[in-house]
Amino acid sequence: MDIQRRLLWFRRLALAAALLAAAVVVLGAWVRLTDAGLGCPDWPGCYGHLYPEAGHNFAKAWHEMIHRYFAGTLGSIIVGLGVWAVWNRKQPGQPILGPVLACVLVCLQGALGALTVTRLLKPLIVTAHLLGGLTTLAVLWWLCLTPERRELAPPEMALRKYALAGLALLLLQISLGGWTSSNYAAVACPDFPTCQQSWWPPMNFPDAFVLWRGLDVDYTGGVLANPARVAIHVTHRIGAAVAGSLLIFIGALSVARARGRRLKFAGAALVGAVLLQICIAVAMLHFAMPLPLATLHNAGAALLVICTVTLLRLLWPAGDLAAAAPRALMRGVIPLRNGHRTG
Ligand code: HEM
Repeated sequence: MDIQRRLLWFRRLALAAALLAAAVVVLGAWVRLTDAGLGCPDWPGCYGHLYPEAGHNFAKAWHEMIHRYFAGTLGSIIVGLGVWAVWNRKQPGQPILGPVLACVLVCLQGALGALTVTRLLKPLIVTAHLLGGLTTLAVLWWLCLTPERRELAPPEMALRKYALAGLALLLLQISLGGWTSSNYAAVACPDFPTCQQSWWPPMNFPDAFVLWRGLDVDYTGGVLANPARVAIHVTHRIGAAVAGSLLIFIGALSVARARGRRLKFAGAALVGAVLLQICIAVAMLHFAMPLPLATLHNAGAALLVICTVTLLRLLWPAGDLAAAAPRALMRGVIPLRNGHRTG
């Protein structure tokens, strides 16, 4: 197989892994929202078996095990990508950092998944697991996109710092979402845009963000009093307003400044994804948190990650990398074709 074909297959495999990662994130939310997180109290098996047996909370055990089968398949593909990358590390254009990072992330995710169960659903672990899943998706999505071969115009170049800030804020907002869900703070504010019919209801912020309360606490059903849950929920809404506005601003700016059609489209898609996520969230509250909408809210978060990473990838085209990495060029890691890096 020639180098270009090998890279193409590597990207196809990364795409399959990215789609599977998105499915695993959404399935993970479904498991959490159906309260099946402890469907199998041991790990990696279920009551000591590879599949659930009748008798032990059968339906919930299946929810949990389906998530684990998908996650296991994803883990194997990611390890495959890592081995492939290391094996072909001398091939021009072969990404190495991304696949290795994905391998590290998937190992951490396995450990966090096990801790989620054995540490009785501690919010910090659940939130880190959610964040880890979406970060894995971000890395895999980056790997499956082919960098464009063009130089960026200066106004496009200036978008990079905004897009990086947007990704950081998005990850923070996702963490707040995980904190809301794992502290059972979703129903603390059933109305929208007010919360308990007030713009600023009684809230206990110091208690809301205590990250660790010791090992002996069982968090099933939540342990916080109502004012702390309200504080968490309201913070997630404020986060949505800040992160959402910034992402809409970045998307609109990309549409306005882009020279290429792909960058324009990515900016417009980001704006659309933010608006869609807010609509899903409002519908979720309006219809009293039905499971399909709450699960869809996670799919919305995954879509936002995909859109933001796509925008960032388009803001790091291959031609520009060649200019930014002269040492790599000298080492022959990034070969040039017509003045542009390949792959
Ligand atoms: C940029 C916008 C937003 C992002 C990226 C985002 C992301 C998330 C994520 C990742 C979760 C965790 C879900 C889970 O663990 O199952 C979550 C939970 C939640 N979000 Fe958002 N969210 C956004 C906007 C909003 C808005 C505007 C609202 C309210 C109007 C909202 C209300 C909620 C609620 C109530 C939960 C808890 C769901 C549950 O426990 O079932 N979100 N969010």
